[in-house]
This record gives sequence, C-alpha cells and structure tokens, in this order.
Amino acid sequence: MIIIKSKKEIELMREGGQLLGQIMERLGEIIVPGQNTLEINKLARKLVFDMGGTPIFEGYGEPKNPYPAAVCASLNNEIVHGIPNKDRIIREGDLVKIDIGMKYKGMITDMARTFPAGKISSEAQKLLDTTKRCLDEGIKTIQVGAKLSDYGKAVESCAKAQGFSVVRDLVGHGVGKELHEDPQIPNYASGMREIILQEGMTLALEPMINAGTHYVKVLQDGWTYATKDGKLSAHFEDTVVVTKSGVEILTRI
Ligand code: MF3
Ligand code: CO
Repeated sequence: MIIIKSKKEIELMREGGQLLGQIMERLGEIIVPGQNTLEINKLARKLVFDMGGTPIFEGYGEPKNPYPAAVCASLNNEIVHGIPNKDRIIREGDLVKIDIGMKYKGMITDMARTFPAGKISSEAQKLLDTTKRCLDEGIKTIQVGAKLSDYGKAVESCAKAQGFSVVRDLVGHGVGKELHEDPQIPNYASGMREIILQEGMTLALEPMINAGTHYVKVLQDGWTYATKDGKLSAHFEDTVVVTKSGVEILTRI
C-alpha cells in the first residue's frame, strides 16, 4: 500500500531532508585520502543527533544480522551497504559512496552521494557524472499522473547511452513513515505492475550504475553489495515528493 503523506508530514520531511542535505555536505568535507570510513560514520552519527534526529539505518534488518552503523560507506567496486570500519582507508582515486537515512520529528528521509577522493580517473568521473545525470533525468519524469515505469526507462536509457549498466537487484522505494514503503522503484524498464503517481507520494529514488555488467554479489558480512566483475559502481539518491506542480527534491540544499 502506498502511503500518501499529509501537508504536515511533507513539511516535516522537507525540514528533515534539508538537515540531511547539510549533514551530507559536512561528510563530504572529510572524504579525503587517508580517512577511514568509521570516522565518517562517527561524524554522521554526531550530526544526526545534534540536529535532533535518529540514524534510521542503525539496527535495521534481520535481528540475526542488523545493520551496525548510521551510514553506509561503499568504495569503488562496492555498490551499496558497505559497513564503516576503522581499517578501511580511503585512497586517492577512490569513488566513495555515502548513504544516510534520518528520522526527524517522526518522518524519514534517505539520501546518497558519490564523492571523489582526491583526483580520480576520467572513467570514474564519467561514471559519477552519468549516475548523477541519470537521477536527474529520472526525477524529471516525476509528476502527478505520470507512470512510474517512465522513471525507470529514463534512468536506464541515460546509463546505457554511456555504455554503463543499471543494477537490477536493488531498487528505490517509497519512504516517510518507514524507511522502505511501497512502491518498489526499479531504475530500469521492468515488467512491474504500473503505478500512476499521485500528489503526496514520497519516494526515495536511487540509481546504482555500474561501469561493467549489472551483476552483483553480496560480501561475507551479509550486507555489502559489490559488482560481480569488480568494476566501479556509483550511487546517487534523493527523497522527493510528488506535488501539484511537479516534483520537489527534499534532500537537496
Ligand atoms: N538507502 C538504502 C536503502 O534504501 C540504505 C539502507 S541501509 C540499511 O536500502 F542498513 F538500512 F539497510
Ligand atoms: Co534508499
């Protein structure tokens, strides 16, 4: 069931989303060669609590292997859900993906960015730029009465035009009262039952784009998704709301 949010709930998500955007900007400042990913998590956690929020990823998932951190920090061939670790050192040239979700005044927003560490290769830069553009192209399709399948088509054609592939094993999602609400939002043309967008739907749109094939593997920790071929992957995510006049991006400052 897709939960339509009230004006009040959207206002709270807007407030939380703006704070989350600010947190992400602060995290970007410490993503430099020599930094470890646990340090990024520590700062994220502190900033979330300072702003009166709670880190919603902490403890998420199955009781036997709950997610242990406030953010996901995934490097290079890792796609998403990388677990922060003090021994994981960021190197010059790395693609660093940070994903963070915050509950603020009862409502959740979710976002992710890919950061370059120092100077990166032109192929890595092209993947980063393309993934960001694919998210933007996808967001342009979002409006009242639009078909959700048009979002996936837009993202996929944007990625394919550059010779890249779209991850199929993970999808975007409704967000707000819970981290993961209906609908599921594939970043590719899928055979899923069509969904027509309505005012007040809040969506976490999150294309994951691979330099090589779309195939993924899950690492030993049971969380980290990585590319099967070991090639690079990039990820951008924003929480958006379908409005009367189109779409509003809640997590961009
Ligand atoms: N943005 C990701 C998602 O929507 C991050 C989830 S991490 C988790 O799936 F630990 F909370 F699962
Ligand atoms: Co998400």
